[in-house]
Amino acid sequence: SSVSSDKATQETPSYACQRRTPLHHHNKEIVDALQILALSASFQGSEARYLGFTRAASVLKCLPFTLQSAEEVKDLQFCGGHSKTVIQEILEDRVCREVEMVKNSEHYQSMKVLTGIFGVGIRTADKWYRDGIRSLSDLNEIEGKLTGEQKAGLLHYTDLQQPVTRDEAERVEQLVKGALQSFVPDVQVTMTGGFRRGKQEGHDVDFLITHPNEEALNGLLRKAVAWLDSKGSILYHHIKGRSHNFARSSTMDGHETCYAIFALPNACPEKSPDAGTIQPDLDKSPPRNWKAVRVDLVVAPYSEYSYALLGWTGSKHFERELRRFSLQVKKMSLNSHGLFDIEKKCHYPATSEEEIFAHLGLLYLTPSERNA
Ligand code: GTP
Ligand code: MN
Ligand code: MN
Repeated sequence: SSVSSDKATQETPSYACQRRTPLHHHNKEIVDALQILALSASFQGSEARYLGFTRAASVLKCLPFTLQSAEEVKDLQFCGGHSKTVIQEILEDRVCREVEMVKNSEHYQSMKVLTGIFGVGIRTADKWYRDGIRSLSDLNEIEGKLTGEQKAGLLHYTDLQQPVTRDEAERVEQLVKGALQSFVPDVQVTMTGGFRRGKQEGHDVDFLITHPNEEALNGLLRKAVAWLDSKGSILYHHIKGRSHNFARSSTMDGHETCYAIFALPNACPEKSPDAGTIQPDLDKSPPRNWKAVRVDLVVAPYSEYSYALLGWTGSKHFERELRRFSLQVKKMSLNSHGLFDIEKKCHYPATSEEEIFAHLGLLYLTPSERNA
């Protein structure tokens, strides 16, 4: 719905799913600043301002050069006036007063800590804030009111704040595959999310599970998680069963999903020449030989696998833009189960992500080009 000349529209397509967005780009400082304002807007419940700043940040991620002067900002498309002011201020003064104010505000700081807890969304955090809760220690007073998920999130807060490295993600993959394969040897397991887009670290590890024979998937997730639990690998888990009334919704997905916290054993240390040296044990508590890691496991029937793969690879903004493009431009409803043509009233099956892009009339983007 943005007004721009034909020529300008050709230069930067308006939907993020029409552009290649690499993981690494040339305007990190400005993108970080805009994303702080986006986050702050979402903490204040302003979806429109969140989207405005997020879209502006996303456009900058595609710029093939580093912005140098405020002059260059004038012609930037799909970047609102407020975002342009922020960009100009950073280019001129290195900092933006509004961003500094947000970073120092009590609401932003508390919301960042509270929403950083697994199981705590913006609404819950904001309600707590209005009840006077500012920090993790304040939560002790309402411990009885916390959900099981939130209690686990609080208990493992420090570990879960540490980024998951690619090496750790690969060790989680081995654990997950081992558990699933002990029941179904030829089960297909794919790492999705940020790691599939090429990120070197993430806030969790996401997996998609499928098999050509749907029968093989029945009860598999529960059995595999119980197996891992019996080996002491699971600190917390919650399984959401498959739901069947998602068909035409572009916001709801109904795959069987396990949201878990794993106890990931430390990597075996490399043998070093002084491996036998006795270390003085200053702290009496035994050293912990595991790290808590957030893991999402999703099961998709084979016929929906490509849609689930596309839907769980992200980024979050890329997915939102892809669904918005489908609905607004193509009059089709896209979710992690399929693509529904609202006017022709038909579904489009797909056996690869390439086919889904083709159904939508979009240029194919590899996972590493979806870092919108
Ligand atoms: P980090 O984990 O922070 O490294 O980034 P990420 O891109 O992997 O984010 P995240 O794990 O939150 O989500 C991965 C992708 O899965 C995102 O693009 C989301 O669109 C999608 N996703 C996350 N949660 C859900 C959910 O509950 N349902 C569905 N259908 N998709 C989800
Ligand atoms: Mn992830
Ligand atoms: Mn996830």
